[in-house]
Amino acid sequence: MEIKVRHVHAEDYHSVHQIMLTDRVVHGTMRLPYQSLEHTRARLEPAEGATKLVAYSGDEVVGYSELGTYPDTPRHRHVGEIIMIVTHEAWCGKGVGRALMTAMIDLADNWLQLTRLSIIVWTSNKQAIELYQNFGFALEGTMPGYVFCEGRYIDAHIMGRLNRV
Ligand SMILES: CC(C)(COP(=O)(O)OP(=O)(O)OC[C@H]1O[C@@H](n2cnc3c(N)ncnc32)[C@H](O)[C@@H]1OP(=O)(O)O)[C@@H](O)C(=O)NCCC(=O)NCCS
Repeated sequence: MEIKVRHVHAEDYHSVHQIMLTDRVVHGTMRLPYQSLEHTRARLEPAEGATKLVAYSGDEVVGYSELGTYPDTPRHRHVGEIIMIVTHEAWCGKGVGRALMTAMIDLADNWLQLTRLSIIVWTSNKQAIELYQNFGFALEGTMPGYVFCEGRYIDAHIMGRLNRV
């Protein structure tokens, strides 16, 4: 089925919350288990510099992503960060992540004049690392003990993609 991308709507929060609650999203992100529906609803609200997208197929929301920028910081406004990208468990491996990355990179390269994109990813998250490499992100460094996950500290990579620098 065709996967499309649009900006999140306020009424998407139930669907996005179902995606956020899953173990794989909690493991792969900074989310905590049992976070409330209200927490997800607040996260989807508009924020300066942030673009919040959903991937959908038919009527179903199947993924969510956030691109953060710094429009009010003159010396840093060429930089963007992929703050979150998550796919509904039942839709993993079907091109949802690719569709969201394609949309964010189109925004970055062709509309927002972002010349540097970065993302932080846990070193164990092979799917995400491969997805980012497919879009030209390179490994820039590793941060030991970056995040606490299921009772232990784990490492994170910072990955970056430079365009026209
Ligand atoms: C990472 C994540 C967003 C990928 O989304 P997805 O919708 O499954 O990705 P896609 O189906 O678009 O796959 C895109 C690429 O990812 C990689 N990939 C996907 N599934 C993979 C797997 N099982 N093993 C290795 N690589 C995989 C491949 O490179 C794939 O490219 P290809 O289709 O050309 O082979 C998804 O696994 C997810 O939501 N994980 C939990 C949350 C998370 O960890 N987010 C990232 C935080 S940094």
